[in-house]
Amino acid sequence: MKFFLDTANLDEIRDVASWGILDGVTTNPSLCAKESVRFEDLVKEISRIVPGPVSVECVSEKSPDIISEARKLAKLAKNIAVKIPITIEGLKAIYALCQEGIMVNTTLIFSASQALLAAKAGAKFVSPFIGRLDDISEEGMALIEEIATIFDNYRITTEIIVASIRHPRHVVEAALIGADICTIPYSVMDKLVRHPLTDIGIEKFLKDWGKVKK
Ligand code: E4P
Repeated sequence: MKFFLDTANLDEIRDVASWGILDGVTTNPSLCAKESVRFEDLVKEISRIVPGPVSVECVSEKSPDIISEARKLAKLAKNIAVKIPITIEGLKAIYALCQEGIMVNTTLIFSASQALLAAKAGAKFVSPFIGRLDDISEEGMALIEEIATIFDNYRITTEIIVASIRHPRHVVEAALIGADICTIPYSVMDKLVRHPLTDIGIEKFLKDWGKVKK
């Protein structure tokens, strides 16, 4: 499974990039709004740090506007994936942009039918938001299972990005299903590494190392 970082914060991206496990980054307007760097400079710098796909969202709503905005975003760096919300206008734009070879990440996916249509239009990625489904007492991970089954049934190569991740168990469950990618906030990425028994074990080994005859 590939690990993307779900942030627009350069310090977080530089840090996780140094761990040697980072395959890409996803941003969205809300994440970019938290940063003080000018939008285009931010996107270019993220794309320089991370060689893998960097998702950047289109905010236009009509397909001709989405298409021209996406073309501009795709020119910022070679590894840009344009994020387009799933709507009818979005589908038209996804089809046109994919014909041009632009990587599209279809975002705000909350049903398997939306994922199937995005894939059929040619999207490279679909981003089902599982945490937001859990937040309204639905079963976010059940959506990942449905999409994975449908994509397997038809040998669809569109990659599933499990998004809106809230805790490490989401990542493990996504991996058990066989999702292609998890996009993970920095706080959860940090929790994935840690375990209290690891900390206790390190402390004991260090203490005992002090008693070893050298
Ligand atoms: C995905 O690409 C989105 O940026 C993100 O996962 C949304 O997560 P949230 O529900 O925590 O805002």
